[in-house]
Amino acid sequence: MVEVRQVAIAGTGAYLPERILANDDLARLVDTSDEWIQTRTGIRERRIADEGAATSDLAIPAVRQALEQAHVTPESVDLIIVATITPDHVFPSTACHIQAAIGAENAWGFDLSAACAGFLFALNTGRQFIESGQANTVVVVGAECLSRITDYQDRNTCILFGDGAGAVVLRPSDGRSGALLEAINGIDGSGGEVMKVPAGGSRMPASYESVETRQHFMRVRGREVYRFAVGKMVDLVREVADRAGIEVSQIARIIPHQVNLRILESARTRLELPEGVIVSNIDRYGNTSAASIPIALHEAVEGGLVKPGDHLVFVAFGAGLSWGAVAARW
Ligand SMILES: CC(C)(COP(=O)(O)OP(=O)(O)OC[C@H]1O[C@@H](n2cnc3c(N)ncnc32)[C@H](O)[C@@H]1OP(=O)(O)O)[C@@H](O)C(=O)NCCC(=O)NCCS
Repeated sequence: MVEVRQVAIAGTGAYLPERILANDDLARLVDTSDEWIQTRTGIRERRIADEGAATSDLAIPAVRQALEQAHVTPESVDLIIVATITPDHVFPSTACHIQAAIGAENAWGFDLSAACAGFLFALNTGRQFIESGQANTVVVVGAECLSRITDYQDRNTCILFGDGAGAVVLRPSDGRSGALLEAINGIDGSGGEVMKVPAGGSRMPASYESVETRQHFMRVRGREVYRFAVGKMVDLVREVADRAGIEVSQIARIIPHQVNLRILESARTRLELPEGVIVSNIDRYGNTSAASIPIALHEAVEGGLVKPGDHLVFVAFGAGLSWGAVAARW
């Protein structure tokens, strides 16, 4: 029988731009208030990339930090997978920019588009390359400049999103340390209208009209997302824990996509988990789509919230519709 190699997260990194956009700043742009935003979403502020900066500029320091933590040189990276819906360009891929900047001269790589579930699609994809023996060192990145596709005239969406990047290094597990245990990924394209950027692709290329009518910005049906997200998060956590052979009550930390604090808390209550199990930094960064899980993971590791042997669950859902969950032992 062919033995499947186990895969572990060997290092984490994150980068957040310095510029802060607080709720009060948004209240000067649209008809909203700090109180409304905090009560409905849990968000106090978010980070915005400097003018002229692109997604790879946020990703590169995050990747460097993850490589350092994993004690891995750029030359030994085999593969770079970047989950993003805000690539630097349509082409070349953001993975190419990162590869050149860090000097990963032996790596290949590509971008992957699954919106807020993107990091968990990329994590599961990267894992397959190590399990199959095609790669030993895989860098998985979630990075976004969502401010570039956010309409700061639309109060329904502009309060939600921010910029940032996170990265992990995947390596074969030595069996004693942590391992990725189980993964679920899914899509339901019939929900494609719930969240989308109408223009800029082949369906509606850029034109004067598309710019004038603000079609290059995100459109989100928040209430529908809300209803979908709570139920999906509960189902995914239960299913991935079951497949990994652990009870929900044995999960030390859930590191979810940072969608909305009320969604996260309502899922936690339904899962009958105590306060503190759900890791959240949404108050400081808002929703950074594919970047939100690796940023939260990095902060949890740095802050001592995860210990060797802990059972972790990552869970995400977003445009597509798309979703994912990964159970891991740290
Ligand atoms: C967006 C979200 C915060 C809205 O919260 P909500 O409680 O569902 O609020 P509603 O959409 O029902 O809107 C309630 C009212 O507040 C108003 N409102 C919307 N945004 C507002 C804002 N920023 N400030 C003040 N009022 C606002 C609405 O116009 C509405 O007014 P109306 O009742 O007169 O029409 C919430 O639905 C959410 O977090 N959804 C998921 C997030 C998401 O989509 N993330 C992206 C994909 S992962």
